[in-house]
Amino acid sequence: MSELVIRRVRPYGEGEPVDVRIVDGTIVAIGADAAAEAAGSDAAGSVEEIDGAGGILLPGLVDLHTHLREPGREDTETIETGSAAAALGGFTAVFAMANTNPVADSHVVTDHVWKRGREIGLVDVHPVGAVTVGLEGKKLAELGVMAAGVGRVRVFSDDGKCVHDPLLMRRALEYSVHLDAVIAQHAEEPRLTEQAVAHEGPTASKLGLAGWPRAAEESIVARDAILARDAGARVHVCHASTAGTVEILRWAKGQGIAITAEVTPHHLFLDDSRLVDYDPVFRVNPPLRENTDVAALRQALADGIIDAVATDHAPHAEQDKCVEFGLARPGMLGLQTALSIVVATMVQPGLLDWRGVARVMSEAPARIGGLDDQGRPIEVGAPANLVVVDPDAEWTVHGPDLASLSVNTPYEGITLPATVTATILRGTVTARDGATVSAPDESVV
Ligand code: NCD
Ligand code: ZN
Repeated sequence: MSELVIRRVRPYGEGEPVDVRIVDGTIVAIGADAAAEAAGSDAAGSVEEIDGAGGILLPGLVDLHTHLREPGREDTETIETGSAAAALGGFTAVFAMANTNPVADSHVVTDHVWKRGREIGLVDVHPVGAVTVGLEGKKLAELGVMAAGVGRVRVFSDDGKCVHDPLLMRRALEYSVHLDAVIAQHAEEPRLTEQAVAHEGPTASKLGLAGWPRAAEESIVARDAILARDAGARVHVCHASTAGTVEILRWAKGQGIAITAEVTPHHLFLDDSRLVDYDPVFRVNPPLRENTDVAALRQALADGIIDAVATDHAPHAEQDKCVEFGLARPGMLGLQTALSIVVATMVQPGLLDWRGVARVMSEAPARIGGLDDQGRPIEVGAPANLVVVDPDAEWTVHGPDLASLSVNTPYEGITLPATVTATILRGTVTARDGATVSAPDESVV
């Protein structure tokens, strides 16, 4: 029997501090007397304790959009280092995008990713399967075989590329219905973004950078909403970045279309004014937009028009990132800073309370990704996938201190609110006070 007691925490930041007792991965008691029961059984030996010190207890965070770079670019991130960054960031489950090398377009790759994640044991790594073979947008991948594998793929995406052929997108949506899966679209009409490296607007014009119009995203979101409606399918919009996308989502949801969307922490925090020094760390797809878009995205997340926050954690090697702006690979780190950025952009301005944070960083992404053991209410009988947060602590971001193999954080030197005291996966502590705790679980692969 393994037993863990989390002392003095406030579930969802509400009410007086309580103790939470966990036995064999399940919450068995919550309340003032929960610790006393544990003390009674302490004679039997090993009760692990975490002191929450009056901090906040949330369901473990779930990231719908992570690039772990394994297989293929293990010099920039591996499932192991990415899992460590995730656990330190408060995550208990992540979805690993398919744009690896080889591409995760077959069960050989998706099953490997799942098993490797379980071997490491720091976070559940759910593989995302590619929609098309090689992400080439020409031929559907074997979605059903990936769904039937041990990786149980329920999210399919060509992320990094848009499934821009409308007939292929239609077919993918039709297949996904029978697999109870969702197609996650990187919404970018490629004809409108040829050569584009920055948001099309006054900043890009002044800097002489080729512009990426909002319409490139919005036209695909509108098209896919209509295709999903007709297929009776679920479509998910990756990294929504414009105020117009918010309006299309509002319309589509109003029509009863099964469309969901995520926003990244960086699109909630940063705008294109950061580009003035041509620092390639700020190059990302979709590009940082204008402050009016940022405001609309924050409000949409508060209102539930945007369902979830997803990191789009995108590690890149120095030789691919520290080059001329237009040649740099797009993408930035996100796993270890996501919660703090959501606190800074949503909680501190009063747009979300902690229950809202649980909704957008755990419950909604778990539901969209089809996970029934994550994002569950904190109650007796629930699986103990949890994170303890110190809302009053601050920390200063320094790339080399992060667990990631890459250092391309856009928040270098910035002091952010809130730290992760501990992360708990099925009752096992995976991160504590800024260090990971190895918990291999080879039995379940
Ligand atoms: C991502 C990557 O590096 O894989 N880059 C990015 O700028 N977001 C791909 C993606 O999410 O589109
Ligand atoms: Zn993308």
